[in-house]
Amino acid sequence: MAETSRHPFLQGLSKHRGAPPTAVVIFGASGDLTARKLIPAVYNLAADNLLPPDFHLSGYGRKEISNDAFRDLAAEAIKEFSRRELSDDVWDRIAAKTTYVAGGYDDPAAFDRLAAHLAQIDKEVGRDVQPLFYMSTPPSVFAPILRNLGASGLAEKHLGTSLHAKVIIEKPFGRDLESALKLNGTIREVLQEHQVYRIDHYLGKETVQDLLVQRFSNAIFEPLWNRNYIDNVQITVSEEVGVGTRGGYYEQSGALRDMIQNHTMQLVALTAMEPPVSLDAEAIRDEKMKLLRAIQPLDLGPNGDVARAQYAAGMIAGKPEPGYLEEAGIAAESSTETYAGIRLSINNWRWQGVPFYLRSGKRMARRVTEIAVQFKRPPGTLFAGGAFDLAANTLSFQIQPDEGLSLVLNGKVPGLETRTQPVKMNFSYSTTFGSNTPEAYERLVLDAMIGDGTLFIRGDEAETSWKLYTPLLEAWAEAGREGMGSYAAGSWGPANADELLVAREHVWRKP
Ligand code: BG6
Repeated sequence: MAETSRHPFLQGLSKHRGAPPTAVVIFGASGDLTARKLIPAVYNLAADNLLPPDFHLSGYGRKEISNDAFRDLAAEAIKEFSRRELSDDVWDRIAAKTTYVAGGYDDPAAFDRLAAHLAQIDKEVGRDVQPLFYMSTPPSVFAPILRNLGASGLAEKHLGTSLHAKVIIEKPFGRDLESALKLNGTIREVLQEHQVYRIDHYLGKETVQDLLVQRFSNAIFEPLWNRNYIDNVQITVSEEVGVGTRGGYYEQSGALRDMIQNHTMQLVALTAMEPPVSLDAEAIRDEKMKLLRAIQPLDLGPNGDVARAQYAAGMIAGKPEPGYLEEAGIAAESSTETYAGIRLSINNWRWQGVPFYLRSGKRMARRVTEIAVQFKRPPGTLFAGGAFDLAANTLSFQIQPDEGLSLVLNGKVPGLETRTQPVKMNFSYSTTFGSNTPEAYERLVLDAMIGDGTLFIRGDEAETSWKLYTPLLEAWAEAGREGMGSYAAGSWGPANADELLVAREHVWRKP
């Protein structure tokens, strides 16, 4: 046997991908996420032959529509949003087992009808079929759905077997610590933790999973991955898009809730956690939790750890764009931040004294998600002076777009004199593997069907992250617009966020 195939981490990666007979029920069947992500994900899993032969899909929603009308909506969604063209061969296989159940979320009788519908599927298949409920609704109806899953007996369906009911919960998971605790409380009244799959779609991204592989399957990183060699870490999640038609939602959310508390913190946890003892869900989530607990409370005072701002009018790709306050659905005096910058201190043996800088904003210069690990500079004794253009070695994980990994080194410029220049070594996903990679939701739906919770958030992770950010959310809410910075659309962010880095003579990257 080859040496690598015995390595426990690599063994863990080749988990068996076969899903058991499953009936997926999507609550919020006529919603945007269902059309854009969920139906295309199911379709692409079918195209890749990753769905079990006894796979059933049921939409559930308040609208009274027929099975056929729901199938038509699903086919349209595939045509518009799937990474693959709709092919009749594949679609006919799913369409035959696609149905629709109309009902309210707080209507116990409708959930009894849903239970009867699923019992009928078990009967037709001739064996137990695993129910997988996807809560793709506004969070205001999470609680009634959960209660009705409990009351109708669906939450306990096939409990005690591997085909037990599973529930995927879409974000947002609460809007502060109190609401997250309350939601977890409601969940625990009807479900056991191993039945719950809290979505953070960033964990489904190929490159986020690659972060674990890079860190723990390459022996060269681990010895350097600590305060002795690393100077700072910068995590950027920037977008070119503004709030578009989602003004109503965004006004209640803002960059901290929408991007930092969830997606960005998951990137922090995976970058900084200790090596897990295995790739099992609990082993990884335990390490993420330990890391989240080591993060120090934020300094909210002047010259503290936080900065926020809104975009003003500016140019993106040669096109003028309005400022946030001019967008549709935004209050004239809105105090919702479209940019948040944070400096985190992690107080553990590995990271003490290494700042982790996080930023996320809408309408920035470029859409990019990257994790840049900047190493300490070498002593300046040998290559000092004007001829030597030296950069700090930086390893950056390009999560999206242009997925890949790059390392900045210093090299000699060819010539008779000794001059240096930073050079970049690049690994590009698309060049090496081609570009038709699965979307995050494909991986996540498949993992939930298989019962693998590794790429989902455990209840305590969500609570710990909210615990860190709730004092800040409260402070910002109280301050109104006071201290709100501004940045031109199409720029790399506000000046007040630069100040987070100045104390340590760091500067934000322009990726
Ligand atoms: C969502 C946010 O969770 O993530 C959106 O609500 C944001 O505001 C989106 O645009 C970004 O996701 P991605 O996968 O395009 O980086």
